[in-house]
Amino acid sequence: MSTVSEVFLIFLHIQIIFWCWIPSTISIKISPCARWNTTGEIVAGLGGRGNNPDQLREPEGIFIHRQTNTLYVSDTGNDRIQVFTLNQLSSMGTTVIVNVTYPTKIYVDDDNDGQTIYVSVRNEDRVKKWVKGAPDGVQVGGECLMCESVWVDKEKNVYMTSVTKHCVYKWSPQTNITTVAAGREFGQGSGSDSLNSPEGIYVDNTSGTVYVADYANHRIQKWLKNALNGTTVAGFSTGDQGSDAESLSYPTTIWVDDETQVVYVADSDNNRIQRWLPNAFMGDTVAGGTGWGDKLNQLDQPVDLAFDNDGNLYVCDRSNDRVLKFRIIHNEPCLPLPTTSTGSLSLIF
Ligand SMILES: *[C@@H]1O[C@H](CO)[C@@H](O)[C@H](O)[C@H]1NC(C)=O
Ligand SMILES: *[C@@H]1O[C@H](CO)[C@@H](O)[C@H](O)[C@H]1NC(C)=O
Ligand SMILES: *[C@@H]1O[C@H](CO)[C@@H](O)[C@H](O)[C@H]1NC(C)=O
Ligand SMILES: *[C@@H]1O[C@H](CO)[C@@H](O)[C@H](O)[C@H]1NC(C)=O
Ligand SMILES: *[C@@H]1O[C@H](CO)[C@@H](O)[C@H](O)[C@H]1NC(C)=O
Repeated sequence: MSTVSEVFLIFLHIQIIFWCWIPSTISIKISPCARWNTTGEIVAGLGGRGNNPDQLREPEGIFIHRQTNTLYVSDTGNDRIQVFTLNQLSSMGTTVIVNVTYPTKIYVDDDNDGQTIYVSVRNEDRVKKWVKGAPDGVQVGGECLMCESVWVDKEKNVYMTSVTKHCVYKWSPQTNITTVAAGREFGQGSGSDSLNSPEGIYVDNTSGTVYVADYANHRIQKWLKNALNGTTVAGFSTGDQGSDAESLSYPTTIWVDDETQVVYVADSDNNRIQRWLPNAFMGDTVAGGTGWGDKLNQLDQPVDLAFDNDGNLYVCDRSNDRVLKFRIIHNEPCLPLPTTSTGSLSLIF
């Protein structure tokens, strides 16, 4: 091989590494005061309800694999998991898992040998994982009756929500033991030690804090690692339901910004995505909230949400059989308050 072509190959190689690495290393910080275009674009489900590649049927969950900029959709009504590349937008999904009965939420983890897909499978009362290349999924952890959600932390602990047992379980791969991480087994209630039909979860990667959408209590609870009680970070701690800025109605899941602790809520029965800043007593609407419907600024049972590397918001719009993308249009820091008497600058957070 001539030196010239060798140099060219090295150059090409560097280019490939460059293009493969760029999306994985850049992930913008989302300002607690960011805004998104209130008109969405359909990125999955353009063909409406059905089982063709461009269609979905009542999807329950989405996950964005940031390293590859790929959207995974739990196409619940079609018993399959669909994948859409976000690099070149195409309305056609590829099926990566079939015959999974009532898949709810998805978590995609990076393992040394490729992506591992975890799915909470409601009709099988368990979480299953599919490692790259394997035709079948295998169960992880113990039983998860009416399993509604799954999450994985840095240490590969798997968290899963059982609606009928009113708690979140945590399975440790080191010990092969499943313990309760939030709520009490069969402890349905609205006290701070209880949950009522919990659904989506988000686990802070470094602290192990579990955030739970406490569905039938219309609130979002935060459970510190090994805590026996939770605290409310969105909605009323008393479990009261409503549609104003202070309230939520059947929240199905959350996304939490690890750095700012801002909580984004899929407020499903209010057909809106709410943002709650730390210690706030009310939230604001970042998508939907314009009444139930199928226009591009409306939602019909938003049940999951995610962000891509550029800070764009994706919403799993269940009863409209689609996933909408809301582009970030403003990402300025929050307005600084006048300096205090001590001269320090505080921020409206
Ligand atoms: C929002 O999106 C719509 C439709 O794509 C577009 O027409 C409009 O200009 C966008 N608005 C802003 C503020 O970017
Ligand atoms: C999926 O299920 C259908 C119906 O039970 C069956 O015909 C098909 O072979 C299954 N496909 C796979 C890949 O298991
Ligand atoms: C959690 O950390 C792992 C390992 O650093 C990373 O692969 C994963 O993407 C992180 N998850 C989230 C939601 O940030
Ligand atoms: C882990 O525990 C389950 C039951 O709780 C058991 O069926 C399985 O064999 C165990 N796995 C290992 C590797 O010990
Ligand atoms: C935990 O919750 C229970 C039930 O609401 C309550 O009685 C108890 O005082 C709480 N404990 C703490 C430490 O907050």
